[in-house]
Amino acid sequence: MKRTTLALTIGLLCSIATLMTTSYVSAEAKGKSRPLTTSQMMSGLVKPKYVALKEGLSKETISEDDWKALATHAALLNESSHSLMQADRCPDDDWKAGAIILRKASNDALANIAQENATGALKAVEKITLSCKKCHAAHKK
Ligand code: HEC
Repeated sequence: MKRTTLALTIGLLCSIATLMTTSYVSAEAKGKSRPLTTSQMMSGLVKPKYVALKEGLSKETISEDDWKALATHAALLNESSHSLMQADRCPDDDWKAGAIILRKASNDALANIAQENATGALKAVEKITLSCKKCHAAHKK
């Protein structure tokens, strides 16, 4: 009885290991350890959060709920600056510089959002825009 359980467990572990190796290998074939492409990250995360942040900060009155949402947008932009540097995504120094500007500027936006300072946060958004330009000039066709 015990042996059967052990054999079953080993068999199960082997199948899991095979499955994991298979998906790892197919992701590697794309040159990345994670499947999200740069294009998807841009269209699904970076652009929508950038637009929402900019538009939200330009509203005449910003409610408490708005400030919460604005912090989420800025934090997700900050998160994208980390993802851009992971999984073999970064090819060179221009890319790295763009990602670092994005990281610092989104942190700056977050600090201003915490103070409910829309003018300060909009200045930080201008710096965020520079990060898009820096990286796109070198890497977006
Ligand atoms: C570190 C580099 C980097 C940064 C920073 C960056 N981008 Fe990009 N972005 C790219 C690359 C590379 C592409 C081209 C992707 C492709 O076509 O495979 C791209 C493509 C895009 C696209 C087209 C996506 C699509 O549909 O294929 C949009 C929109 C975009 N970026 C918006 C932004 C905005 C807005 C910012 C700033 C908030 C930004 N990006 C910052 C590297 C970056």
